[in-house]
Amino acid sequence: MKKIEETNQEQIIQKIAKCNEGKNLQYSILTMGCQLNENDSEKLSGMIEKMHYTKTEDLKKANLIVFNTCCVRENAEDRLFGKLGEVKKYKQEKGTIIAIGGCMMQEKHIVEKLKESYPFFDIVFGTHTLHKFPEDLYKLLQNRKQIEDILDIDGEVIEGLPIKRNDSVKASVTIMNGCNNFCSYCIVPYVRGRERSRKPKDIIEEIRQLAKQGYKEIMLLGQNVNSYLRVEKEKNIPFEEYQGIHSFATLLRAVNQIEQIQRIRFISPHPKDFTDDVIEAIRDCDKVCKLVHLPLQSGNSKVLKQMNRKYTKEQFLALVEKMKKEIPNLTLSTDIIVGFPGETPEEFEDTLDVVRKVNFEQVYMFIYSRRVGTPADKMENQIPEEEKHKRFDMLKQLVEMQIAKQNKEYVGTTQKVLIEGKSKTNEDLYTGRTDSNKVVVLEAEDSLIGQVVPVKIVSEHMWYLKGERK
Ligand code: SAH
Ligand code: SF4
Ligand code: F3S
Repeated sequence: MKKIEETNQEQIIQKIAKCNEGKNLQYSILTMGCQLNENDSEKLSGMIEKMHYTKTEDLKKANLIVFNTCCVRENAEDRLFGKLGEVKKYKQEKGTIIAIGGCMMQEKHIVEKLKESYPFFDIVFGTHTLHKFPEDLYKLLQNRKQIEDILDIDGEVIEGLPIKRNDSVKASVTIMNGCNNFCSYCIVPYVRGRERSRKPKDIIEEIRQLAKQGYKEIMLLGQNVNSYLRVEKEKNIPFEEYQGIHSFATLLRAVNQIEQIQRIRFISPHPKDFTDDVIEAIRDCDKVCKLVHLPLQSGNSKVLKQMNRKYTKEQFLALVEKMKKEIPNLTLSTDIIVGFPGETPEEFEDTLDVVRKVNFEQVYMFIYSRRVGTPADKMENQIPEEEKHKRFDMLKQLVEMQIAKQNKEYVGTTQKVLIEGKSKTNEDLYTGRTDSNKVVVLEAEDSLIGQVVPVKIVSEHMWYLKGERK
């Protein structure tokens, strides 16, 4: 772990800031991918705003455009190429600085493709060099030479980066970087590096600070949160126990004690690491939401083995049973991949079977996407696109039916809703979320933003519930 003060970036930020003063420069940031990337973008924005750029959504007006990319599925990559086509003309017209960072830049073939087909970019940076963005920008401003700043080896966890958060009620806190699981379909371990946890004290201090600033909901982030500090313990890397924190369960308990924080969520845990102490912590901590994300991926034991998920259909169902027994009012959400190489129609049926049995509150459904460099990409029995889509539609239909049914059960109940702000589609209304993460639309007032209030659900719609304050 290193503090940002030790990296020379702060001095560089100040130099650029001085240079930019009074120039009224603007920047845009486009984030693709998961909440870890969103959190990284908040840090990039923090650094960029300190260098006297103000944010604009209008790419035409921006002097600096930053892409924070994702490569988990092909469609995430396509988004970048589509957008680069669009910004090329701004570059030509007004010399906009184009910087591209994030997970996709850790893939050599992508950087090659950029150089060949989109050579007008100014900076590319990877996941391990994000904190060095000021230095990269400074070099570019000095020499006007294209910059490539990508590290193959794992970067250190850098603490204390400036941050400009997107929301004033909910805040994300990354608790660990990287992933060691190597699910056979997944590119993340190759682009985010090995698992390494932040120190307990750094996390608690960040959350205390957030509480002081008025944040009410904390989302703990990592690719495998319930193995927090596992690697450190296994390899005898000192992590300095703080307030009794030495595992994910003890971290949850410590965050639960922070006054002013009203809600705690976390993503993603891995079913194979869902130990009893974590289940007990969720049960005991009143602020920890009783909606848990438990990624299934497939409901078939053979497919799960080939995915390298390290649990069977039966083990997953037994875990769900145990959790539901221990934690009153527990609801679950999940991720599912359809059309993994070799998945037969019968094996896909097992996925539908688990979905029927568990009755998830939310299901994030993905069509299997081949990722260069992963074991599954080399498997021979790839499923034809048309078949993958057919299975996707079958799953979607089942999930929508289940959600519609669950939504009906909410009508007439009273839910604790955290009011998040004004509705984006209707000026007169506000939106909030239940403990189980359902969107609720209701009449409210500005003074209630950030508060948890009892709300009676009066009607249901596919993607939200309508409520009235009690
Ligand atoms: N670490 C988290 C999530 C990582 S990526 C976890 O394990 O739950 C988010 C989701 O994208 C995964 O859960 C998986 O469902 C999906 N995903 C990952 N690689 C994919 C691929 N190659 N094709 C389709 N979906 C994929
Ligand atoms: Fe990918 Fe598996 Fe790691 Fe999640 S746990 S990031 S799916 S390798
Ligand atoms: Fe995408 Fe990187 Fe997240 S590949 S899903 S942005 S960790």
